[in-house]
Amino acid sequence: SIPKFVKVVEVGPRDGLQNEKAIVPTAVKVDLIKMLVSSGLSVVEATSFVSPKWVPQLADAKDVLEAIQSVEGAKFPVLTPNLKGFAAAVAAGAKEVAIFAAASESFSMSNLNCSIKDSLNRYHDVACAARNSSIPVRGYISCVVGCPVEGAVSPSQVVYVAKALLAMGCTEISLGDTIGVGTPGTVVPMLEAVLEVVPVEKLAVHFHDTYGQALSNILVSLQMGIRTVDSAVSGLGGCPYAKGASGNVATEDVVYMLNGLGVKTNVDLQKVILAGDFICKHLGRSPGSKVAKALSRV
Ligand code: HMG
Ligand code: MG
Repeated sequence: SIPKFVKVVEVGPRDGLQNEKAIVPTAVKVDLIKMLVSSGLSVVEATSFVSPKWVPQLADAKDVLEAIQSVEGAKFPVLTPNLKGFAAAVAAGAKEVAIFAAASESFSMSNLNCSIKDSLNRYHDVACAARNSSIPVRGYISCVVGCPVEGAVSPSQVVYVAKALLAMGCTEISLGDTIGVGTPGTVVPMLEAVLEVVPVEKLAVHFHDTYGQALSNILVSLQMGIRTVDSAVSGLGGCPYAKGASGNVATEDVVYMLNGLGVKTNVDLQKVILAGDFICKHLGRSPGSKVAKALSRV
């Protein structure tokens, strides 16, 4: 049966804006985050403390995080690929962080410039530092059903990384279909395997909508008991190291489906649409959410 409440984790300011060609001004990012919080979203992934050479779009991470310190009502996790990023994040006021491993070796190399094993060693250090500061750590796993280089990824590869992240003390593990190739046909067996080793309340799902499968994949995840769903306002996003990856599933579309299912989210759909309009106007594009398009026509 489907959960009565679902936590929607908004990743647009991070996963969305990291992939924009144009660099979005810090003030626009900060306004976007404030609008997302005012729509009731309780977790807004704000930015990443990664190398500015790798992701110049988020080079202003410190300024963004400092500017939202006084914003109440939401948590603002940030991505930290190593101890250097972790230290910078904490100095800028981070109270939650996320680490991000991959289920495929090729993707680990292209995204982190190291093997899965080396990345897990690095993350072990980050997780220890976080524990010493009582900072919760979310662990991402990318390419959980498919890799842009290697093709199909087996559930056992995901289980291996999930076990390692859980052992490090991750409070939540988000399973990412980074390139959006999954269908319920591949997602269900992957989830079944991961659920053998990770308690369902610690799992989140993170679907990109490249092939239009994200809502179907979310629905089957909910049916398997998962209560945390990642999405990006207006379907922003992609991944600079995953060629062909399109945006995350749109928050508006997820909230519309959850409303239809009678699942509580505490998120105001109209206010998310306003936030989507705001960032799309800035980026000079039409909304990437079908729900936002439909509702703006009526
Ligand atoms: P590297 O080049 O192997 O690292 O990159 P390095 O240790 O040799 O350092 C190179 C330079 O970067 C040095 O500077 C370091 O100081 C600096 P230089 O001496 O050349 O001037 N540096 C840093 N600067 C700022 N913050 C840091 C940092 N670390 C090193 N934290 C590294 C390794 C991990 C740093 C790099 O590969 C990197 O930043 N990768 C991040 C890639 C990324 O952000 N990808 C997108 C997020 S993952 C994603 O989107 C998937 C997800 O959404 C889930 C899904 O969809 O499935 C989460
Ligand atoms: Mg992603």
